[in-house]
Amino acid sequence: MDGEGEVDERMRWVERVLASPPLIHPDAPNGAVWSTEPDCYRFMADQVARGSHTLETGIGLSTVLFAAWGCDHLAVSPYRYEADRILEYCSDMGIHTHSLRFDIRPSDVALPALVGGEPLDLVFIDGCHGFPMPIIDWFYGAGRLRRGGTVVFDDLALPQVFTPVDTFLERDRRWLRLERTGKWAAYRRLSEGPLAEMEMDQEFYPDPRLTPWRRAKDRVPLNVKRTVRHVIGI
Ligand SMILES: C[S@@+](CC[C@H](N)C(=O)[O-])C[C@H]1O[C@@H](n2cnc3c(N)ncnc32)[C@H](O)[C@@H]1O
Repeated sequence: MDGEGEVDERMRWVERVLASPPLIHPDAPNGAVWSTEPDCYRFMADQVARGSHTLETGIGLSTVLFAAWGCDHLAVSPYRYEADRILEYCSDMGIHTHSLRFDIRPSDVALPALVGGEPLDLVFIDGCHGFPMPIIDWFYGAGRLRRGGTVVFDDLALPQVFTPVDTFLERDRRWLRLERTGKWAAYRRLSEGPLAEMEMDQEFYPDPRLTPWRRAKDRVPLNVKRTVRHVIGI
């Protein structure tokens, strides 16, 4: 059971780690670590619990937090030194890392190769931001979310990130927006299973190949079509 005390404890970890961030990315603006808005970490602290199944692309302050929160966490990055620095930092801070795993490969290689495992509770997409990597991370990462799980995107100011968010998730009722700032956004998944599907399953995109008449006809529910056919005798 995850009570208020556990949430408060996760929030305390957020403040502690923000106050004394790990040194992971020397090229980051603060000379220590690339990071997102504090409220994004607080939001994730509220979404997860000890033992939650979580995945992130990229490594950083967030990785330390998932470990401190006791999540069953997989962090994906091509750079071994980032993982080593996280482990050193956690050891210095007294943070257990037994539930933290790393996959030291680019996410486009690592994620399609993942097999088995529990459905995920939360996926944090904050790895490579070049097109189409955020889409690949979403497709293979968020494709493993359970129904009701959460996907979080960071760096929404980048077209490579806001394009899939704005042109797909915002239109699709199977993704419920939970939070959105200029920097990050979170959506609840209201479906389950792999994300591959046919274009006709995405009726929120009008098909330009169809005539207006055909489009209108397609929108009429099947039971109404059957009744009309029955009444006019065809
Ligand atoms: C913005 S930082 C992550 C910051 C972290 N999420 C946080 O909140 O502190 C981006 C990370 O993505 C990693 N990265 C770069 N290319 C990647 C790739 N192809 N696949 C996965 N991660 C990648 C970088 O090494 C870096 O660790």
